[in-house]
Amino acid sequence: MKDKEFSVSPWEVSGEVDYDKLIKEFGVQKLEKLPKVFEDNILFRRKLIFAHRDIQRILEAIKNKKKFAMVTGLMPSGKFHIGHMVVALQMIFYQKLGAKIYIAVADVETYNTRNQDLEKSREIAIEEYIKNYIALGLKPKNCEIYFQSARSKDAEKSNAYYRLQNLLARRVTFNEFKAVYGEITPGKMISSLLQASDMLHPGLKEFTKEKELPVIVPVGVDQDPHIRLARDISKRFKETNLQISSTYNRFIPGLSGGKMSSSEENSYIALTDKPEEVKRKINKYAFSGGRDTLEEHRKHGGNPDIDVSFQYLRDLFEPDDKKLDKIYKDYKSGKLTSGELKNYTIDKINTFLKEHQKRRENITKKDVEGFVYKR
Ligand code: TRP
Repeated sequence: MKDKEFSVSPWEVSGEVDYDKLIKEFGVQKLEKLPKVFEDNILFRRKLIFAHRDIQRILEAIKNKKKFAMVTGLMPSGKFHIGHMVVALQMIFYQKLGAKIYIAVADVETYNTRNQDLEKSREIAIEEYIKNYIALGLKPKNCEIYFQSARSKDAEKSNAYYRLQNLLARRVTFNEFKAVYGEITPGKMISSLLQASDMLHPGLKEFTKEKELPVIVPVGVDQDPHIRLARDISKRFKETNLQISSTYNRFIPGLSGGKMSSSEENSYIALTDKPEEVKRKINKYAFSGGRDTLEEHRKHGGNPDIDVSFQYLRDLFEPDDKKLDKIYKDYKSGKLTSGELKNYTIDKINTFLKEHQKRRENITKKDVEGFVYKR
């Protein structure tokens, strides 16, 4: 395919990402065959989650029925779209496996790097993110969602979290920041240390009784620089024994390719989109791997590997392996047309959204307060 330039960093993702190249560049491990509970999950089976650091620690904890935690975070900006579902579904997956779940709302990061005030972030986090997490199946038991600007009502916990952020500063140099992030500003520096504390603090004695708590951090691969740095810093921070493992997901493509982004209206399908909107967006914008004319399509077939509708089915909406395989073959042979593939995808997404939106509408303020404390 096209050999376009791409760039992946925590502050920007652009171009067509070459994931094999990223594995080498970032020094992460490719995910090999996983235990059955993982393979039963569409995200792992279809390799949307494709790489990791130290996942063995988590696999062992699960096997030996030991305690472990999951931490991830969100930038509260814009609409919650199907790309955001990838991490959300992993929260629910790990919660079912018995992990304690921590979710950081990165309102401080958003304030410092995106000029958005804390109130706005809170509103977006609740309306767009938290309500959708709940509708997708996240439960309040064993789950803490917190704001970076307000960690906890419990002062000991809160102190421990901010103390860690501050003490980590001694274990990192300015040049390291520059090497990891490129251009660096005070806001980015603070965000990076705060995110390190997000990922590491569940292992502190104020948060767990375990001597060594395995922690898994599922993220989009753009977040690896944060993880790399946090792992390096924590190794040098001898006062504690904090470790993190991580997994990385590819990005769900935007309708016309690239990364799906909430700042580009025509790149995403939001979880609040109405059926007509989904239909219109897929028909109008979803990049097709089909041929220009029906005649050519029948003769030469289409290319499912670059077809965005096909990727939505593969990554999220067609869990049946046999059905997906048939769609792949029929599209490639030309038996299935682009129009038919799009209709099938629209139908699958809308069936899911109908149920999801019903669940979301029934979520009350009280339900949300089961996850985050009232301010
Ligand atoms: N920086 C993350 C993002 O842009 C958000 C985030 C904050 C996060 N703290 C985290 C992600 C801890 C994973 C773990 O989306």
